[in-house]
This record gives sequence, structure tokens and C-alpha cells, in this order.
Amino acid sequence: MMDFIADPAKVGDADSYRYFEDGLLVVEQGKVVAFGEAKALLPDLAPGTEVVSHHNGLLMPGFIDTHVHYPQTEMIASYGEQLLQWLEQYTYPTEAQFADRQKAADVAGFFLDLLLDGGTTTAMVFGTVHKASVDAFFEQAQQRNLRMICGKVLQDSNSPDNLSDDVESGYLDSKALIEQWHNKDRLAYAVTPRFAPSCSIEQMEMAAQLMREYPDIYMQTHLSESKQEVAWVKDLFPQHQGYLDVYDHCGLLGKRSVLAHGVHMLDEECRTMAHYGSSIAHSPTSNLFLGSGLFNQVQAQQHDMHYALATDVGAGTSFSLLRTMAEAYKVQQLRGNSLTPFKSFYLATLAGAESLDLTDRLGNFEVGKEADFIVLDYDATPLSKRRIAKCQTLAEKLFVLMMLGDERHVGATYILGEKVR
Ligand code: GUN
Ligand code: ZN
Repeated sequence: MMDFIADPAKVGDADSYRYFEDGLLVVEQGKVVAFGEAKALLPDLAPGTEVVSHHNGLLMPGFIDTHVHYPQTEMIASYGEQLLQWLEQYTYPTEAQFADRQKAADVAGFFLDLLLDGGTTTAMVFGTVHKASVDAFFEQAQQRNLRMICGKVLQDSNSPDNLSDDVESGYLDSKALIEQWHNKDRLAYAVTPRFAPSCSIEQMEMAAQLMREYPDIYMQTHLSESKQEVAWVKDLFPQHQGYLDVYDHCGLLGKRSVLAHGVHMLDEECRTMAHYGSSIAHSPTSNLFLGSGLFNQVQAQQHDMHYALATDVGAGTSFSLLRTMAEAYKVQQLRGNSLTPFKSFYLATLAGAESLDLTDRLGNFEVGKEADFIVLDYDATPLSKRRIAKCQTLAEKLFVLMMLGDERHVGATYILGEKVR
């Protein structure tokens, strides 16, 4: 078993993780009480403690998906457009169906089960413009005991009529959702302006107002995903210095702000992100699928801009963070950079918890944290089994998992110590 304690790019691979060939994770009432060498811990277990063995599996914290759209589950793999055309042609008509709470509950339940199949135990999730879409989502997440963050989309500009709100109704719906769901069980609310082109300045300022009224809510949006979109923002907001400046000016940036993509960023914007402690949700399968561009990891690291992994389904093409790591690796290859196996698994676990400001509860196996964890199965397919047999080191095994792995390699998923998959 393994977990991460720091960013491998900052402290070096060797000091970034803890690994026990024959390890034991001790869980009591859903929380970690010990993590270490099985031999050392077994003698101290209380009599009658149930011990579960996972042979030839790698136990690690559950994956964290820092940006995903549950209402887009049924439109994944919609052919042939780039971002702005894709939104108009496929996304908006699909999302219009989520005024119906029944429909929303059905898709939300299906979505959460897919996440668990892929070993994702926490996510930051977009609803649609409809309040009912978020009620339905939180209800499904609550039933499954999951730590989830979600929000009602705010969009009052450049959007179809059946997918538009206004400043007043957006405020009232968001506020009602916060009052009902934020910090209830394991749930939290994210105020969710879709992206600058679909929001008026007044609406984004209203979102920031909510962040002041409820200082521990989250903010999620999109940033600098495609070149066409960046040019549109420049046209729409000529008085601003750039895309991020629109959000900054409205007061939307903070430690709990997560902005998806950040593919086309100025150095100055990276520094601003780092200044606020805001995070980028790096979504490689989506960026490749929509032809949006190649995330600049070197630029991000140079300016100490925090980022973690995300699927961004339905523009993303898989719910699996393993498959997402594989595409993140290839994106860096195309940029002439490297993405090590340790950094990749860090990005899918502890870095995600850092993005969501949840390191006091999730991300690794420190004592007292919530016991959401997975068991990765090296031998899940004949090919991975053969390939793993040739591996000498942990780094090699992790790399095989991230390049060949998918839902089949998630042997088990545990939520608060209970096996759910
Ligand atoms: N920008 C604004 N809305 C969306 C969305 O739904 N998906 C993606 N990938 N980008 C967006
Ligand atoms: Zn998105």
C-alpha cells in the first residue's frame, strides 16, 4: 500500500510517498487509526478485529476528480466539434433536460456508481442551471455517504432561453441550496458561474457576494480552455487585462476556487492563481478530445500554480483517473516534458485534496483522516499481468497501471472503511 505526503516535483520522488510492501491500514468508525507495516501493527489489533487481505493489489487513497459534469454523462463521446460549437450542438440541449428532478436523480445515481467503479471517491461536480439538478445530485451522494462538492450553474448571457437564469434567481437558488446542503454530512457547495462568456459581470459579482456571505463555500468555473474562447472573452470584456482578470476583478478567486483547464495562460495569470492559492483542474482527455490544447506543466510549476487532475466528462472521454493519467503523460510528451508515475498518482490523490482544501480529511492515510480508499489490481487483465511480471520497481509498476489501467484495475473501492465496489 502507498500514499503521498508531498509533491514529488518539490521534494523528489523518494521523499514524496510512503510505501509498504506488506502494509496494514487500520480503520475504526470510518477513520484511519494506523497505517504501516503489517508485521508491526498486527499484534496491537484489538481482539476480534476483522482483517481483510488483498494479495497482489496496491491499496491507496481514493482518487479525486477535481472537475466533472454529471449531467453530461449521457453525451460523452459526441462527435466532431471544438469547445464553443460542442457546447451549442450537444451540451446545452442535453443539460436542458435536467429541469426534471427524476431525470436528474437517475443520471446522478448512475454517474456516482461509475465514479466508484473507477476508484474515484470524491469529486467537484457541475450541475446544470436548474436547482433541481443539484438537489437530486446531493441526495444521491448523501445516500452513498460520499464526500462530494456540487453547485448550480449560473449562466445569464449567450445561452439558450431554456438554460438561462438571471442575477436574482441565480442568487436565490444558490442560497437555498447552500442553506440546505452545504456542510451537511459529507457534502459541500460550490458557487458555479459556468464561464465568463455565459455570465454577466453582475452575475459574477453576485457569485462573489455569496462567497463573502458563506466564506467556506467553493467556487468552480472554466478558464482559458480554447484559443477561440480566450479571444471571445477578450471581445466581451475589452476593459479587462485578460481572461483571469475578469474573475479576479469580480472577486471570485480564493483558496477554494477551482478553475478547469488553464491551457492558454499568461505567466502573469499563473502568478495571480498562485497568489490566491486557487487551483487548475487539468483535464487532458477533454483537452485532447476538443482539440483545445496542451496544458503547460512547466509554466505551472515555474509559477507555483497549483493543479490536480480532472476528467471533465462529458468533454472528457473517460471517468477513470488512470486513463486520465495516461493522457496527461502523453500531453507532456507532446510538449517535450515528462510526467513521472509518482507525480501522476500524487496529482490524482493528495494534489486533488489540496485543490479542494480537504487535506485535513482526505488525500492520504494520516491518522484521523476519512478512510476512502481503493485497491488497484495489477493482474486485472492478461496484458497488465504479464507486463507487471517484468517490473523491478514500484515506479515501473505505477507506470504500467497508469498507461494500461482502467476501471478493470480497480479491484475494490471503500467508503469510510466500507466496501462499496
Ligand atoms: N466551458 C463552459 N462550459 C463548459 C463545459 O460544459 N465543458 C467544457 N469542457 N468547457 C466548458
Ligand atoms: Zn468542464
